[in-house]
Amino acid sequence: MRKFFKWFGIALGALFGLVLLLLAGLTINANIRLNRTYSIQADPIPIPSDPASIERGRQWVASGDCMYCHGSDLAGTAFLDDPMLGKIPARNLTPGIGGVGSTFTDADWVRAIRYGVNPEGHSLIIMPSSDFYYFSDSDLGDIIAYLKSLPPVDKEWPEPEFTPLGKILASAGALGNVIEAENIDHGAARPSAPTEGVTPEYGAYLTEVSGCRMCHGEDLAGVETPPNPAAPFVPGLVAGSEAASWSEAEFIQTIRTGITPDNRPLTQFMPWIDFRNMTDDQLKAIWLYLNSLSAE
Ligand code: HEC
Ligand code: HEC
Repeated sequence: MRKFFKWFGIALGALFGLVLLLLAGLTINANIRLNRTYSIQADPIPIPSDPASIERGRQWVASGDCMYCHGSDLAGTAFLDDPMLGKIPARNLTPGIGGVGSTFTDADWVRAIRYGVNPEGHSLIIMPSSDFYYFSDSDLGDIIAYLKSLPPVDKEWPEPEFTPLGKILASAGALGNVIEAENIDHGAARPSAPTEGVTPEYGAYLTEVSGCRMCHGEDLAGVETPPNPAAPFVPGLVAGSEAASWSEAEFIQTIRTGITPDNRPLTQFMPWIDFRNMTDDQLKAIWLYLNSLSAE
C-alpha cells in the first residue's frame, strides 16, 4: 500500500509538472503570436472626399456590423471586459481624443480594416478584418472616406490586454481565432470585385463583408456554441434550417423587423438592427445566395 502511495505521489507530481509546462508553453506561444510584427504594404486605394462617396460609405457602415462592436457613434465600446480574460475594447474610430481617426493615415485605415494589422504592425484582436478583406477597393475607399468625415467624439479606451488565463485560452484557440492577422493570407491575390446586382454572386459578397459566417459558421449551417457564452444557439441559414424555408418576403421582413415569420423576436446578438438598413436589392441578393447554397 505504501509503495502504491509513493508511486501515486510521483505520478501526480509528474502530471502536475507536465501541466505547468504545457501552460508555460501556451503562454510563450501566445506572447510570440501577439507580439509578432507584420510588415504589410497597404494597397494604394484612392480615398475619395466627395459627398456621394461619403454617403455610400455611410450606407455601408449603417447597414454592416461596425456599430455592433464600435457603438452607434463609432466611439468604441468595452467589447470584451472580463476580469478572467482581459480587456479588448473595440476602438474609438472618430477623430476625437482617443480616436484612431486623429492619427490614422489612409494606409493605416487600409492595413487595419483589410489586413487586421495596426500601425505598430501587430495583429488586431477580435476585429473581423478577415470578413472586411473582401470589400472591393472602391467600397473600402468609400467606407474610409466616411470614417474620416465622422464628427470627433472624445473617448479613451485602455490598450488591449489579456490576463494570463486569457492568453492561455487565446493561444489554445478556446476563444476562437481571435488573433485576426493570422486568419488572412496576406500574400494572396485580391478576390475579384463583384458587380452590384440582385444576383447570388453579389449576395455572396454581401454575406462575406457582413460577417454572417463569423456567427452562423463557415458553412452557414449554424453553431451550437457561439464564442460569446451569453449568446443563444446560432441557427443555420441553409438547407435543413428553418430560415431556408422562408420566402424572399419573409426573409426580408425578418431582417427588417427582428421578428421571424412564426413571431419569434430575435435577440440583440443578431445585428438585425444594423442589417435592416440594407436596401431591398441587397437583402434579395443575400436571400438568393443562401438559396443557391441550399440547392447544392
Ligand atoms: C466583432 C466586433 C467588431 C466588428 C464587427 C468591427 N470591429 Fe473594428 N475592432 C474591434 C476590436 C475589438 C478592435 C480593437 C482591436 C485591438 O485593439 O487589437 C477593433 C479595432 C478597429 C480599428 C482600429 C485598429 C487599430 O489600429 O487600433 C479600426 C480602424 C476598426 N476596428 C474598424 C472597423 C470597421 C470599419 C468595422 C466595420 C466595417 C469594424 N471595425 C467592425 C471589433 C470589431
Ligand atoms: C454577431 C453575430 C451574428 C452575425 C454577424 C449575424 N448573425 Fe444572424 N443570428 C445571430 C444569432 C445569435 C441568431 C439567433 C438570434 C436569436 O434567436 O435571437 C441569428 C439569427 C438569424 C436569423 C433568424 C434565423 C432563425 O431561424 O430564427 C437570420 C435569418 C439571420 N440570423 C441572418 C443573418 C444574416 C443574413 C447575416 C449576415 C448578413 C447574419 N445573420 C449575421 C447572430 C449573428
